[in-house]
Formats: sequence, C-alpha cells, structure tokens
Amino acid sequence: MGHDFAPMKNDLIIRAAKGEKVERPPIWIMRQAGRYLPEYHEAKGNRDFFECCRDPEVASTITLQPIDRFAGLIDAAIIFSDILVIPQALGMVVEMIDKKGPHFPEPLVSPTDGQYEKVMAKDTLAAVEELDYVYKAITVTRTKLQGRVPLIGFCGAPWTLLCYMVEGGGTKLFAQSKTWLYRYPEATKALLHKIAEVCVEYLARQVQAGAQLVQVFDSWAGELSPAAFREFTQPSLAYIAEQLPKRLAELGLERVPMILFPKGAWYALDACCSKESLGSYDVVGLDWQHDPASAVATRGDRKIVLQGNADPGILYGTHERITKTVQEMVEGFEWKKRQSGWIVNLGHGITPFVKPDDLKFFLEEIHRQTKL
Ligand code: CP3
Repeated sequence: MGHDFAPMKNDLIIRAAKGEKVERPPIWIMRQAGRYLPEYHEAKGNRDFFECCRDPEVASTITLQPIDRFAGLIDAAIIFSDILVIPQALGMVVEMIDKKGPHFPEPLVSPTDGQYEKVMAKDTLAAVEELDYVYKAITVTRTKLQGRVPLIGFCGAPWTLLCYMVEGGGTKLFAQSKTWLYRYPEATKALLHKIAEVCVEYLARQVQAGAQLVQVFDSWAGELSPAAFREFTQPSLAYIAEQLPKRLAELGLERVPMILFPKGAWYALDACCSKESLGSYDVVGLDWQHDPASAVATRGDRKIVLQGNADPGILYGTHERITKTVQEMVEGFEWKKRQSGWIVNLGHGITPFVKPDDLKFFLEEIHRQTKL
C-alpha cells in the first residue's frame, strides 16, 4: 500500500530532527500557509475554512503557497488543516467564524451530559476514518511537492483539544477547562486518553498517506501548573510518543521524527527532554519566552533537537531588529559550535498582517547568518 513518491531533493529537516550534523539549520514557520499571504485569501475565495480543509485540491494548493513563494528558503511544508478536525471526527460541530475563530455550538458541559457520553462512545477507528480527506490532501500534496521538501503532518494534543471541546472556543479564563480538571479529574483523564488514542491512529494514517514528520500542538500547555502538567497532559503526550512508532511498525511503515510543541510550558522543558517522562519525541518546540541559551543548557547533552523560537511579533519590526533577533538565536542555539540540534521556527504561528517580504527577509537572514 506504499505510494510511489518522487525521491527527496531536500531532506535537511529529517536529518536535523534525528539529531544529525547538518550543513545549515532547517527552517519552517508555524502557520506558514495562512492569512498573511494574499494568495491564501485568493485560493480560499468565499469558501468556509473547513470546506478548504476538506477539499484535497484546495488544501494542497494552500500548503504549497509558501513553498513556491519562498522557494529555496523553506525546508518543510505542513499540511493545511486544523487541530479541531479531531473534535469534529468525534462527533462535535465546530464552525470557524470569520475574524473570531472557532466556535462549538454544543461544548461538553459535564461528564453526565449526553455529549460527553457520545464522544466517549465514538469508535476510534470510525472517527479516524472520517478524516479521510486529510489523508487524501497529504497524498496529493506529496505528489505535487515532487520531493522539493518534506511534508509535516500534525494533530492537536489531547489537553489542548479538551480545552476547546469544553470551552466551546478560545478563552482567556479557562474556567470550564479548570472545572473539568479539578471537579471531574477521572472523566477528564478518560477523555484525554480517548483523544490520545484517536491522535495515534490519526497520525499513523497521515504517515501512511505520505507525511514525513509529525508535530503535536499543545498550544495550551502553559495554562497548567507543573503538577497538573505531570498529572494530566504528560501521560497523554507520552502515550502518543510511545504508541505511534508501534502502530507504524504494525502498518509496515518506518518511524518518522516526532515534534512536540508544548507552548508556554517552559517549566516542563526538562521533562520534555527526558526519555523517562515524555517518551520518544525527537524535537521539542520552544515558544519565544524561552531564552535559547538557557534552553540549550537545560537540554544538556541529551539528543533532543530544539525548534524555534523567535517572537512572531519581531516580523512587525524593522529589518535591523530582525537581524538582531536572528543573531541572538544563532548564538543562543550555539549553531556554529554544534551544527546540530536546532530547527529554526518562530515561537508560535505567524500572525496576520505580517508582510510576506518581511518573513522573506527573516528567512534570508537565517541563511546568511548560519553559513559555515
Ligand atoms: O501551520 C500551518 O500553516 C498549517 C495549518 C494550521 C492551521 N491551524 C491553519 C489555520 C495548523 C497547524 C493549525 C493548528 C491550530 N489550529 C492550532 C495549534 C497551533 C496554535 O496556533 O497554537 C490551534 C490552537 C488551532 C485552532 C484555530 N484554528 C484557531 C484558534 C483559529 C482562529 C484564530 C487564528 O489564529 O487564525 C484557527 C483558524 C485557522 N487555522 C486559520 C488557519 C490558516 C485561519 C482561518 C482563516 O480565518 O482563514
């Protein structure tokens, strides 16, 4: 059931993610295919966001936009989709409201409401089957990429998805999420585990379709205390990292590099670098609140690769400031000394209104300053 894709012309990010010494640090940008690109709005037209995700032709066109525009400067594509397709596959309605973000008309209210029971009862394989359009988009995109750069697949982490499922959308308070953690801890753990099972199977199917690395987005990890991180999100993240390679082996597929992005969880960096705590993630994504040099010191001589971590807001600044930020990263991640252990990215997704040429300048500056 293997696909016959073109041989890779650039596999830099795969080698770097495995901890190998590389000729320059690979670069990709979270949300690189998105609203700051005029061609994104053009391709999307007046379609609904999730309609674009569900159309493999549109999703692959959007995925390739930054690869074409920044040809030679970007080392990976990430499939155009969203983390919230898992709650949808579990039977929840999720709408994307223009200029507001995601909205769940019927969030999970309590472990005894009908919704929670319905989600828990949903068959994992049946849920993953419903995301067939993602696998199709991945295969079409791999074919169109012609080996130019590797393709990243992704999912949301169970904790982050649970937050959306109980809040019904974005939140500043996390009142519902914290209610679930501290009032219904057992039901919360059961739901986190259910989502983790879906994540494993979903990522395995993405790899089967052609994804060459995977990233788990735990965007709300920073809302937890260190103790709550250990009790709630860590077990489900470790489960994904332990089970995915096993599932891939069962399917006759090779293990792919796994990236964990635990946004805001600076206090958990040591655990994220430790095989005992967080399984076998190869790469840990850092947000911009980490000082690269101290993250490098926390990692020590462990083989984990660090990814990041410029403040996305730097792209609203002057070119002098961008140059300075790149310099700080190149020094902080000790690029010239190590020539390994670093994948360049922003500390979170690129934001709307950034001028594509300013991102181009950032990418060029990385290339310029990391020349050996
Ligand atoms: O990185 C990429 O280019 C691939 C595509 C991608 C999107 N969302 C496209 C998108 C990825 C990897 C995501 C992940 C995602 N989605 C996360 C985790 C990363 C993070 O930002 O922390 C989260 C929390 C979501 C949920 C989500 N989707 C929100 C909160 C929003 C609205 C706010 C926002 O920042 O746009 C979305 C919509 C969304 N997902 C858009 C895109 C391009 C914008 C849709 C539009 O208005 O056209």
